[in-house]
Amino acid sequence: LELNAHEKTIMSGCFVAPAGIRTRFDQIGGLGATKELIDDLIRLPLRHPQFFQHGILRQNTTGMLLFGPPGTGKTMLARAVAAESGAAFLNVQMSRITNMYVGESEKLVKAIFTLARKLQPCVIFIDEMDALLRARSSHNHGYETKIINEFMQEWDGIASGQHQQLIVIGATNRPFDLDDAVLRRLPRRVMVSLPTLQERHSIVRVLLTEDRIELIHWIAERTQDWSGSDLKNLCLAAALHSLKEHLR
Ligand SMILES: Nc1ncnc2c1ncn2[C@@H]1O[C@H](COP(=O)(O)OP(=O)(O)OP(=O)(O)O)[C@@H](O)[C@H]1O
Ligand SMILES: [Mg+2]
Repeated sequence: LELNAHEKTIMSGCFVAPAGIRTRFDQIGGLGATKELIDDLIRLPLRHPQFFQHGILRQNTTGMLLFGPPGTGKTMLARAVAAESGAAFLNVQMSRITNMYVGESEKLVKAIFTLARKLQPCVIFIDEMDALLRARSSHNHGYETKIINEFMQEWDGIASGQHQQLIVIGATNRPFDLDDAVLRRLPRRVMVSLPTLQERHSIVRVLLTEDRIELIHWIAERTQDWSGSDLKNLCLAAALHSLKEHLR
């Protein structure tokens, strides 16, 4: 694989080989409707690109925006998509790219897409998409606008239909901050919200390998407004505590 300097930077900072991802859909508790939607919109074109070369399906946009509070499983979902479809995974932290030196950011943005093309099938996961807007809102330098323009241009390039094995998944905690032009390119937007009682139930069940129904009930009922990440930390702390007791 021949890479230019910027592609190498992205490769070393963001690339995860499919075999290196252990996250699977069944490890994600709750989010049933979201998982199903992802299945239709993303895994289908990745697995059967031949059906997306003709007719209206050619215009299928292979992108999706996941938004919602922190710790609700957005990153997990994106990793699982890549792993289960055997695609390479580019985990791009947008704020890191927009904070680069003048001139470097645009080149890195371009490199994300050119690298992904070389790695196909590939899932480009762009975390903190709102950082793109921050880049555009400070209009005092022209170069911030260049970053976002470069982004749009590359995006439109992959949306032209010949690259159906490239998927873009964006994530943000601040969807209302996103630029209209960015939103237009992500017509599929999925809210990943805090888990309901039933979803907390499934999350705790996934987290605790032991199937202790009463305990799972007990936790789920007392953790309203907790995120999946909060629940993970709770279970982890409890496990450490009980290990400590055991070793005493
Ligand atoms: N639905 C879930 N099922 C199981 N574990 C979960 C779930 N949601 C979150 N977690 C746990 O919380 C951790 C953090 O989740 P994740 O990184 O996917 O959140 P996020 O939505 O990307 O958050 P952020 O917006 O802060 O990036 C996961 O690694 C996992 O251990
Ligand atoms: Mg995340």
